[in-house]
Amino acid sequence: MLNEIEIPEELIQKLRSAKSILFFTGAGISAESGIDTFRGKGGLWNKMSAQELASFDGFMKNPNLVWEWYQYRRKIISETEPNAGHKTIAEFEKHFNQVTVVTQNVDNLHKRAGSTNILELHGNIERNFCLKCKAFYDVEKFIDANEVPKCEKCGGMIRPDVVWFGEMLPKGIFEEAERIAINADICFIVGTSAVVYPAAYIPLSAKEAGATLVEINIELTNISDQVDFSILGKSGEVLPKIFSFLGL
Ligand SMILES: NC(=O)c1ccc[n+]([C@@H]2O[C@H](COP(=O)([O-])OP(=O)(O)OC[C@H]3O[C@@H](n4cnc5c(N)ncnc54)[C@H](O)[C@@H]3O)[C@@H](O)[C@H]2O)c1
Repeated sequence: MLNEIEIPEELIQKLRSAKSILFFTGAGISAESGIDTFRGKGGLWNKMSAQELASFDGFMKNPNLVWEWYQYRRKIISETEPNAGHKTIAEFEKHFNQVTVVTQNVDNLHKRAGSTNILELHGNIERNFCLKCKAFYDVEKFIDANEVPKCEKCGGMIRPDVVWFGEMLPKGIFEEAERIAINADICFIVGTSAVVYPAAYIPLSAKEAGATLVEINIELTNISDQVDFSILGKSGEVLPKIFSFLGL
């Protein structure tokens, strides 16, 4: 399969002179690790209700169901490993001055792959916090809880530290991501349907400020007609191939 993916020589030239590289990633980069995406082929939202399981109203209506769903997802994620896509992005960090990952993912796989410069727009499933006093808890703390646990400090309800539909992004993160975007020479858009806002503004801001946009996805998306290079293929195959062409 690897041989069939065409990498434009012009992209490699641009990468060689790039000072600041941004990887804007979504659920698709973790698909090859065995974590379902939300949309696209086989996406979770074809089977489950986003409103019921990923919204504050859904949580208040049926907290234990939502808690159980997140415990289930955590278990799946904890049994997965970063794939070649995550690992290649971590490699980029070793060879270029400024490499930032702005991810919509909550699975922590970029960090586990070795990336250090990561902005998590939608939180991290490996954390919880208290609705009432906002105390944070590591996932391990309530790992065996089958029902919504109570905060040890104030007795409030504990929820996963992920951004649900209709919620604000963590304070300051979006602004920081925008700052990186407008300074990027190249912005890779990897494994995202680019329909979740405000996250999807990030590559658009990069483009407006003059960055080259490179999309890597198994299918065309909402943003495909705005990018400079669209490479169709699995990120776990395309990214290593691009990196190997750099000959670093
Ligand atoms: N792993 C995770 O942390 C995870 C998983 C599911 C959803 N989410 C959340 O859901 C929201 C959904 O938005 P999204 O755009 O990230 O995901 P999405 O589910 O809307 O879209 C996934 C995209 O990935 C593409 N894709 C699938 N397999 C691929 C592969 N092997 N290589 C390259 N591309 C591939 C699909 O074609 C699709 O365009 C995000 O906010 C994210 O927080 C996170």
